[in-house]
Amino acid sequence: MATKMEKFATMVLICCLLLFFSLPVMSREVEDESEFNYDEESENGPSHWGELHPEWSLCNNGSMQSPIDLLNERVEIVSHLGRLQMKYQPSNATIKNRGHDIKLDWAAGAGFLQINETKYVLNQCHWHSPSEHTIDGQRFDLELHMVHESPSGQTTVIGILYKIGGPDSFLSSLTSHLKAISDKTEAERVVGVVDPRQIKIFYKQYYRYMGSLTIPPCTENISWTIVREIQSVSKEQVELLRVAAHDESDTNARPLQLINNRLLQLYRRQYY
Ligand SMILES: *[C@@H]1O[C@H](CO)[C@@H](O)[C@H](O)[C@H]1NC(C)=O
Ligand SMILES: *[C@@H]1O[C@H](CO)[C@@H](O)[C@H](O)[C@H]1NC(C)=O
Ligand SMILES: *[C@@H]1O[C@H](CO)[C@@H](O)[C@H](O)[C@H]1NC(C)=O
Ligand SMILES: *[C@@H]1O[C@H](CO)[C@@H](O)[C@H](O)[C@H]1NC(C)=O
Repeated sequence: MATKMEKFATMVLICCLLLFFSLPVMSREVEDESEFNYDEESENGPSHWGELHPEWSLCNNGSMQSPIDLLNERVEIVSHLGRLQMKYQPSNATIKNRGHDIKLDWAAGAGFLQINETKYVLNQCHWHSPSEHTIDGQRFDLELHMVHESPSGQTTVIGILYKIGGPDSFLSSLTSHLKAISDKTEAERVVGVVDPRQIKIFYKQYYRYMGSLTIPPCTENISWTIVREIQSVSKEQVELLRVAAHDESDTNARPLQLINNRLLQLYRRQYY
């Protein structure tokens, strides 16, 4: 009898702990990603995301979804967008396993990106492999998303594409933390001060278009900036990110979405 009671008490405790750790954090992206997956054969796969919750319907019936193929022949080359104006700063960060990806969170913000007089605060970054966006049909090995939000709740994301080669120094600086969460002992870990200026962003040429979050709820009207220059990352680093997510999948890239009649711009400096 006593052991049955003990077992019951333990179960209750475990349930409470599970509930506590799965409480949603204020964010526009879904934090507990276990409800959807990237397996096209599954009922929770990308083509069904919009049916899983009424609030996720845009994933199926939206008209400006991301990611897209950045097709050269569709691009309008412009110079009026100006250089990317980033004023990032070091800030305390935590690293978190969201079930399908690894997210680095700056709770107090880590500076901002300014577009058209609006300052968008950098809140978090996370990784997708292989890349979600493609350039003229070409897919790369990794894509970093730097997610920013304005005081009025507008989101803007910078995407950086990587192909296998030498290690990425920003990811190298996080190796011990990624290994620690890979061991399954922790789902979230305090990293300390992380400086986003260590992320290599070649801002001289970038694509700009209006799209959506690439995970549920697939919120639209999000401006995307995809840096044109491709960076390098080692095979081990891409694998470490996949292992740390412990979702037994080898991909977390949403399939390409229709461009429809969206404007696709490429900023390039004008030389006179
Ligand atoms: C998408 O589907 C939902 C639920 O069926 C519906 O409420 C919504 O109006 C639809 N949106 C568009 C843009 O068609
Ligand atoms: C990071 O957190 C520590 C401990 O809470 C604090 O002393 C330090 O000032 C913070 N650093 C930054 C850059 O926010
Ligand atoms: C910036 O302003 C221009 C001109 O008003 C507008 O076309 C563009 O959509 C704006 N960009 C963003 C990301 O809000
Ligand atoms: C869409 O985003 C632009 C800026 O990027 C903003 O000015 C506009 O109010 C947004 N529209 C909606 C419907 O949220």
